[in-house]
Amino acid sequence: MKVFATRVIPEEGLKLLQRAGVIVTQWTELRDLTPEELIAHCKDHDALLYAGGRKIDRAFMEHCRHLKVISLLSVGYDNVDVKAATELGLPVTNTPGVLSSATADIAFLLMLAVSRKAFYHHKRIINDEWGFSTPTANLGIEIEGKTLGIWGLGNIGYVMAKRCRDAFGMKIIYCNRERNEAAEKELQAVQVSFEGLLQQSDVLSVHTSLTAETKEKFNKEAFDKMKPTAIFINAARGGIHNETDLIAALQQGRIWGAGLDVTNPEPMQPGNPLLDMPTVAVLPHIGSATVETRNAMSRIAAQNIIAAFEGKPLPNPVNH
Ligand code: DGY
Repeated sequence: MKVFATRVIPEEGLKLLQRAGVIVTQWTELRDLTPEELIAHCKDHDALLYAGGRKIDRAFMEHCRHLKVISLLSVGYDNVDVKAATELGLPVTNTPGVLSSATADIAFLLMLAVSRKAFYHHKRIINDEWGFSTPTANLGIEIEGKTLGIWGLGNIGYVMAKRCRDAFGMKIIYCNRERNEAAEKELQAVQVSFEGLLQQSDVLSVHTSLTAETKEKFNKEAFDKMKPTAIFINAARGGIHNETDLIAALQQGRIWGAGLDVTNPEPMQPGNPLLDMPTVAVLPHIGSATVETRNAMSRIAAQNIIAAFEGKPLPNPVNH
């Protein structure tokens, strides 16, 4: 059996596949495959290990119906037209669970970085602007005891809430379709409406997936309801906030700051006004980028492929 990987994949997943006798071809060029190239490579392989690139759409799937599985090296699956995959009988899998800590760490890092304008101060030093200081200059805001609002209290949101509760005694509120009884019991979290989340959060951290329902949910209307002192954090998907509205809300002081590990589009272009704002911190979508987590993700992606080749139930299907 042969697998085509859209990127060079971490060692552990690669070894697992090779030990199972699978031949792995990895795309080593530092650019995305064109749709035609991807189809041409997949024609000759039995599974696709998708670790980044252009969206996997219906047109691709119609050419590659022979694939036994499209195994994603991610928990998010907004880059695949899952509806089309399901209709065409193509199994799609993801890598849930193992990236919760690493991704929550990035949300936590962004929260602190924004509250103390850390990226901005770093840039001042690089630009030889340390200069003269006064007691009223360079002030950030403190996190201790403030209210953290979580939008989407799944695995990652839970870890973020726990980190914030344990480290800073933050009050946790959350907005989620279902109640999260564990969070209510262990973190004294309180479920609120979306309106309530916007109005009460000092830090509002997004941890949902990107769907038609969540797309651009954070727009002018939402930012207008937030506190002028609020920090907005998005380590989920860039498409969940409207970037133009976010820029305007920050420029007009309708919210205080923003920490983004995800942007729309990605990569963010260098001239983006967000990059010049003292209370903004941007990272290039590195939520799950640790040695430990990427190895764990690659193991799961490999296990999904091996199960598909062996005709066994897939450990992590995302088709509905
Ligand atoms: C995920 O797994 O969805 C991360 O955001 C990496 O893409």
